[in-house]
Amino acid sequence: MKAVIINRYGSPDVLQYADVDKPQIKPDQMLVKVYASSVNPIDWKIRKGMLKILTGNRFPIGLGFDVAGEVVEVGSRVTRFQVGDAIYARLDQLTGGAYAEYVAVSEKVAALKPQTMSYEQAAAVPLAALTALQSLRDQGHLQPGQKVLINGASGGVGTFAIQIAKLLQASQVAGVCSSRNIELVKHLGADQVIDYTRQDFTQSNEVYNIVFDVVGKSSLAACRSILHPQGVYITTQPFPGNLLQSFLSALIPGRKYKVIIVKSSGADLAYLKQQIETGKLQSVIDRTYPLAAAAAAHTYSETGRAQGKVVITIAS
Ligand SMILES: NC(=O)c1ccc[n+]([C@@H]2O[C@H](COP(=O)([O-])OP(=O)(O)OC[C@H]3O[C@@H](n4cnc5c(N)ncnc54)[C@H](OP(=O)(O)O)[C@@H]3O)[C@@H](O)[C@H]2O)c1
Repeated sequence: MKAVIINRYGSPDVLQYADVDKPQIKPDQMLVKVYASSVNPIDWKIRKGMLKILTGNRFPIGLGFDVAGEVVEVGSRVTRFQVGDAIYARLDQLTGGAYAEYVAVSEKVAALKPQTMSYEQAAAVPLAALTALQSLRDQGHLQPGQKVLINGASGGVGTFAIQIAKLLQASQVAGVCSSRNIELVKHLGADQVIDYTRQDFTQSNEVYNIVFDVVGKSSLAACRSILHPQGVYITTQPFPGNLLQSFLSALIPGRKYKVIIVKSSGADLAYLKQQIETGKLQSVIDRTYPLAAAAAAHTYSETGRAQGKVVITIAS
């Protein structure tokens, strides 16, 4: 089968469109024919070797965590899915491997694909929407009627975070983005949009229960005056200093500092499917690239300017 792999860490041109063996499945896995995947910044961080301490030096490495596809084989212990099911998933393999024609997917990380979405639209959902959901629901403990600010509202995670904050019944959702994304962020349901090229959101007069810094360009110290005394600041950047701050803030009363580390979850994807099918959640796709052009997809994602998601089409 065709897959995009790396044989060394480096710039987008280390991505090779190659012939590799089809994966063998374990008893709790399914073999999935992948119709679409999508790019997340972690994919190019792995490609660059930024997570070498975790991903090691054994090559080839397959990349890509998001899968939308069709089950073509099931392991002996799989009970919830059968051959022919359309599913979507965020892989739990260390480096991913979804940029491929076939991938092995653990039953526990998959859910049926939302029926109202194409494979491309569904492939944009898993990693980014799980991050938004788990940040706001599990780290922020968002309660109906609370106020939320999302910094980085126009990217892969942010476009889902705005919508998920609304569906968890936040009373006011503020999105921070640049001028060209104001209409997009409003369209996704933000009650207030702050253009970071014109206004410093940390100087706002509003007070929020949750500040979700998706792009990790701020800090709890900078956000202190806009964060409720019992509020939660959440970052997507699991740097050692941030993890230490998170540990320390848990020990003392007052504002909490949380670091999201997204978990693969079929149950959460099943919840998101319901929200999608009732029209409460949509994916925003900026560009799509064929599998053979994964290097161009990475180059674009790395600009940090994507509006929503960058999708990789693998089969039609
Ligand atoms: N820890 C975890 O589990 C986890 C999970 C998912 C993602 N992440 C991390 O979260 C980060 C965001 O991921 P993503 O998928 O949302 O990335 P992305 O899609 O590449 O984000 C791009 C967006 O960021 C916006 N942006 C750039 N600079 C900004 C700034 N200074 N202020 C506000 N917005 C800004 C851009 O809008 P403009 O062009 O308008 O600036 C663009 O729309 C990445 O570092 C990723 O690795 C971590």
